[in-house]
Order: sequence, then C-alpha cells, then structure tokens
Amino acid sequence: MAKKLFNIAWEEFSALPLVEKTPYLMQPDGSPYHTLFAQQFDSVLLDKLAALANEIRAIAKTRIGAEYLRQQVTHKRAMLYFSQPSSRTFLSFVSACQILGVPVGEVRDTSISSEFKGESREDSVRTFSSYFDLIIMRTPEKGLAEHMAWVISNSDRPIPIINAGSGKDQHPTQALLDIYTLLRSFDRGGGLHDKTVVFCGDLLRGRTVRSLSYLLTNYPRIRQIFVAPDPLQIDTDVLDILREKGVEFVQTDNFRSVIPEADAVYMTRMQDEWDNYKNESAAIDTSHFKFGLEELALLPPRAIIMHPLPRRDEIAVAIDDDPRAMYWRQMRNGMWIRTALIAMTFGCERRIHDYYCHNN
Ligand code: CP
Repeated sequence: MAKKLFNIAWEEFSALPLVEKTPYLMQPDGSPYHTLFAQQFDSVLLDKLAALANEIRAIAKTRIGAEYLRQQVTHKRAMLYFSQPSSRTFLSFVSACQILGVPVGEVRDTSISSEFKGESREDSVRTFSSYFDLIIMRTPEKGLAEHMAWVISNSDRPIPIINAGSGKDQHPTQALLDIYTLLRSFDRGGGLHDKTVVFCGDLLRGRTVRSLSYLLTNYPRIRQIFVAPDPLQIDTDVLDILREKGVEFVQTDNFRSVIPEADAVYMTRMQDEWDNYKNESAAIDTSHFKFGLEELALLPPRAIIMHPLPRRDEIAVAIDDDPRAMYWRQMRNGMWIRTALIAMTFGCERRIHDYYCHNN
C-alpha cells in the first residue's frame, strides 16, 4: 500500500516538484499505487511493466490462459470517471479490467451524475470510493487527478487513482503505451537508445507529447525533434527538463528536412478543443505538418510512424498499410500495458509471472 498522504498538507504537497511527489504515490515494492504523471516511471519500472504486458498477452492467447487471467482481480471493482471525451483510453481500460476479471462502473457525463446537482468533485470521488476499489479518471482540469489522489488518500477509504488524461498537462498511461510500442518496435534493432524521435503537430497543447517526452529521458541518448508551427511549438517547461537532463533536442518548422533522421515519427492532431476563443486554431497554417505519401518516401526503412489517435487529416489513410505505420498496433498495445498497470497496482504481477513461466 502507498504511504498515505496524511502527514502533508495539500498546499505543501502540491508545491513539491513532481519527482519529489513520487515517493508518496508508490507501493513499498516500487510499483505504482496512484498513477498520476510520467515522472513516476523510471526505466526499471517501464521495463517491468513492458515485460508483464508481454506475459499477459502471451497468456491471453489460449482460452485456459484467458480464464486464468480473468480470475486474478475478481475481488476488486473499478470506476471509470471520464468527464472528457474518449474512445481508446476508455475502452482499453474497460478491456484491461475485463481481462483481469475486474467489474467496472462508469460516469462519462457529469450532467447525469450528482455533480449536476452541485456535488463537489471531492464528494463525487469519495462517493465512488464507497463502491469501488480503483478510480480511473479523465478530466479537462490540469492537476485534478493529483488533488483527488490526495483527497482519497486522506479519507477513511483510500483507493488508487489512475490518471487517464488531465487537462493539457499529462496523459501518463498513453506515454506508457507509447514507450511499450517503442520498446517492442526496437527490440530487434538494439533497444530503445541512440534513437531520434520526431514529434510533429500541436505540441503546445498535446498532453501525450509532454508525458512521452519525459519518459524518453529514461533512455540513453534519445534525441528529440519538435516540429510545429510557431504558435504550437512545445512549451518551455518541457525543454527546461530536457536541458536539465542533458537530452539533445531540436525545434524546427521544417518537417520534411528531419524525416530522414527519424527512428520514430510521432504525429499529433490539432488540439482545437483548447482554443481560448472560437476557431483561433483555424488561422494557423498546418499544411506542412502532415504525413502522406511524399513524407513516407523520406522515412528510413526501419523507422516507425506513431500517433496517439484520434487523427484528422495529419496522417493520410493511404499510408495505413505501410509496415512502418504503427498506430493501430500502438492503440492495441494500450490495452495490454494498461492491463499490466492494473495488475501491478493490485499486486498480482508475481502470480502472473509464475503462471507464464510454468505454461509458456
Ligand atoms: N489517445 C487517446 O487518449 O485517445 P482517446 O481520446 O480516444 O482516449
């Protein structure tokens, strides 16, 4: 169980740098209890999660193995509290829970929950904790998952919280599935080091890029290239972290010039749901920040194309069948890494590992 956050006031806790918050969020064996931000994960933990995800997907291939997995966490229930739209994250978490036998409940529209009657978020989350043993939450507010983790850890029924996307800030489980995809893709290419990752699109408001950029700092000599129109370039706080960690990075608006250097191209869509006033994003010329057949011709043979999805027109459908297009597999990887995360949160990774060793 995590060290409860009883001994620290919210004001003090929230002012800590993310890395100093991490010890409060982890279990004694180093597994995550609350999963709130990418800074909780180092390469040892990432490799452990990826290995567990690989074992789970191998076990799930047979009916008997799938039945074994379904018996693992039947005594726990999960609440999916999504007050922001989602397809992949929501459905992959539901599937992950089903794989482990975790029954789920959901609130996806706060206009039909008691928040509509004026109930506070704190009371809503405490209500969920009366019925469930895990809260998986997506919110448009930066830092809300963190605050709720503090609230619930100081209640008489502390339960883990997983951040499934918070504001423009963090999407840690997307970053986990992105790292898992990179690890799998480069497994035979010497591993995830000495690689160049090109991020392209709306980097200012894309929380997946922020979380993944940080996780990549766990691996040696990963160069990061940020390609965006000026108004959508990556924020300075991300660059400050890269400087502090000695990570080489480049900012440019010339996409085609950097594609030949890429081991992975990570495309993102325009995040215009964050526009401050109506349609301001529409005035930004994004025509040079799209991946089509001409860009594909510039991509090295062993490089991969990623996208957290959903996409609009920034990746042409015409390249979907190219073996380097990884985004559909990337999405499916999300189900397996989230299953591994839930298994680890509830402490059943050892049992799963032993079963894998005896049966595979
Ligand atoms: N990548 C991602 O978070 O997708 P959804 O918004 O569909 O969950």
